[in-house]
Parts: sequence; structure tokens; C-alpha cells
Amino acid sequence: MVNPALSEFGATMSRLTGVRAIMADIIATLRAGQGQEFLNFSSGNPLVLPEVEKLWRDCTTKLLASPEYGEVVGRYGSSQGYQPLIDAVINDFNRRYGLNLSDRNILITPGSQSIYFYAANAFGGYTSSQTLKKIVLPLSPDYTGYGGVSLVPDAVVAYKPTLEIDAESHRFKYCPDFSQLVIDENTGCVIFSRPCNPTGNVISADEVKKIADRAAVYDVPVFVDAAYAPPYPGLNFVEMEPIFGDNICHCMSLSKAGLPGERIGIAIGDERIIEVLQAFQTNMCIHSPRYGQAIATYAINSGALAEISTEVIRPFYKNKFSILESTLSKALPKNLPWFLHRFEGAIFAWLWLKDLPMTDWELYQKLKEVGVIVVPGSSFFPGLREEWPHKQECIRISLTASDEDIQEGMERLAKMVISIF
Ligand SMILES: Cc1ncc(COP(=O)(O)O)c(C=O)c1O
Repeated sequence: MVNPALSEFGATMSRLTGVRAIMADIIATLRAGQGQEFLNFSSGNPLVLPEVEKLWRDCTTKLLASPEYGEVVGRYGSSQGYQPLIDAVINDFNRRYGLNLSDRNILITPGSQSIYFYAANAFGGYTSSQTLKKIVLPLSPDYTGYGGVSLVPDAVVAYKPTLEIDAESHRFKYCPDFSQLVIDENTGCVIFSRPCNPTGNVISADEVKKIADRAAVYDVPVFVDAAYAPPYPGLNFVEMEPIFGDNICHCMSLSKAGLPGERIGIAIGDERIIEVLQAFQTNMCIHSPRYGQAIATYAINSGALAEISTEVIRPFYKNKFSILESTLSKALPKNLPWFLHRFEGAIFAWLWLKDLPMTDWELYQKLKEVGVIVVPGSSFFPGLREEWPHKQECIRISLTASDEDIQEGMERLAKMVISIF
């Protein structure tokens, strides 16, 4: 076996971060447990919903029958993206949100994760004068993937939130702590997800504007990760609208709208920001694959994608959460300090067990003993280096299991939690 020497970037990028590291353990557990049935709540993979699959199948049929097909798969295109998709996004967003976007405001990328990779390394990291520009995550916990996007991991810096606790109803919510948050001349960019993976949080429009205003003082771009936001996939369970602004780059993904395999991300922002990201993309991969872009064009232009998002995808996951919530509420006692994060969006439940007498990793192992797999919460605090017991007191429960499995799994989880406390 060859063992090539790695550069510093090579070493950084070949490490598995966050959930990817846990996934290796989960896969090994599932393989080793041949015969043992696990209820698996670890997946970040959305389910294939029949109506959504049908939409993409129908769009594919249209593409195959169209004279465009040869051009789409048989030719290179612009690094910015497939023009009909860019036009579809412009028309849809200008109409929905009263914007004045032109095609210089859009970049199509191979998945939205790549937007954060471009941004983290184009705006964050060392400048030519060797100052370290930070990639600021204003509200921790947040998407585990941000932990791996920078070639200079030290550049990723996250801030502890404040907690709004409703003890009576066993619910809580994280809020950005503006008294701690630092955005200054050493900030390269800001990134956060809204709705948030893993917590389901949707930070308020005022909070987004406050973050963007602070960043604007230093001309710092703010990347709002809208992988779960309206209009597609529309996985918001409270009212929310995308927020636009000079230094805000709104970043969408079609992954949770049924197309994770096709890798489609869409960045919408100021042309100077888009230009930088586009150049990065050209160097890296020339452009995003065009087949997925072409079928997405049909789905956006016809309105079907937005409709299926609100009529099918949203209620599907909302119902999953209701089952989880009602099962846990029945199974966990009032006098135990359990707190479910308010379910405002995304496809996960986030459970905080205050004063848990073991670590989240140990709890994860204990739950495996009763055939339940969740994700230990400490994987979701990328960039938060300070000690904080809370980091070891949470778990993420994915809502992608069947209704019966959610009920059964939460009953087993509650029993285990009671016995631990
Ligand atoms: C918050 C968040 N951002 C980004 C991504 C990556 O999405 P994509 O498939 O568009 O790269 C995910 C995927 O789970 C996510 O949860």
C-alpha cells in the first residue's frame, strides 16, 4: 500500500470531522450487529417521498424528450450555472420576494456544502499579511459540516448561545448572545443555518438583521444557510421569510427537496460575492453537473417544487415530530430535567438532558444497547472550544424513521434515560 506524505492542507482535509466521524462508528455497529434490529435515528439523509420522487421522474421524462437534452449532458457550460435554471431562480425570487435580482446575483454549485467551502477559504484563513481571518458561527450548536470547511480549522470560531428555557413545558430555545459575539476587522465571513441543523431553531428576522448589520460595518459577507428554508424545501414550521441584504448571501440547497444525489446548491447575493465564489468554483470543478440543474428548472418554473414542499414535504416531517414529541411527553417524567428544543424547522429533534450523569457519547453507547441509534450532540459544536457541560448533554434524533419506529424508539430511549438518572 502506498503511503504518500500529506501537506498541511492534505492532513486537514483527510480527517473526518463531526458527524462523519460518528457515522463510521454507526456503520460499524450496524454491520457488527447482524441480526440485531436497530432503530436508527442518526441519518441526515432525507427520505424518498413517493410524490417527490414522481416530480423528479416527471421532470426527467420532460428533459429526455426535449431537444435540450444533448446540450445539457453533452457540452460544458458556464461556471456560473445552467442559464435556464439561473433564470428560473431569478424569476421565482423576484416575484415571490419583490427583489430585483439579475443573473450576476446567482451561482449554482454542486451542493450547498461547496458554497461554505468556497466562502470559508475565500474570505476566511490567512491574508497575504498573515492575519487570520475568522469564519464566525454566531450561534452554537450548528451544522457539523462547518467544522470541516476551512483549510485552516483554527479559523472557525463559534459562540455560546443564551438559552430560553420553559421549564414547565420541558422546551427550550437557543438565541444568539450579542453580548459575546465578536464580528470585527478580523472576521472573514459569518455562516449560520436557518432553520438550523441540528436544533430545529429558526433565529428571528431581527437577529439575522442585527448580525448582518454588525458584519456590514467591516464589509463582511454573511452566509445564511437556507438548506431547510422556504420556498423549497419549505421545512419551516413557524413563519419565516428569507432575508436579503447587501452583505447577505442566501444559500439554498435542493437536497432536502428530494435531490441530494444531484448536488444542487444555489447562492444568491451581491455580484462581488458571487464573482469570488464563482472563480473559486471554476478552479475547483469548472461547473456543477447540468442534468440535475435542467430537471430543477422544470420543477421551479412550473411551481411544482414550491407546492410539493409545502403540501407534502413539510407536513410529512411535522407529523414525525408530533409523534416523537407526544411519545416523549408521555414517557419522560415531569420531574426529570429533559428539554426538547422548539421545533421550528429542519428534520431533527434536539434533546437536552440537563445534568446528565454521563457524557453524550456514553449515552449514545447505552442507547445502542437497547437497539437505538442517535447522534451524540457534541459533534454539533464546531468552533466552540471552551468547556461547557451542555455540549455533552444533548443528542440529535433524526425524524427519518417510520412512525412506529419513532414511537418504539422514543419509549426505549425514555426508559434508558430514566434508569440513568
Ligand atoms: C444545514 C445544512 N447545510 C448544508 C447541508 C449540505 O447540503 P448539500 O447537500 O446542499 O451540500 C446540510 C446537509 O445536511 C445541512 O443540514
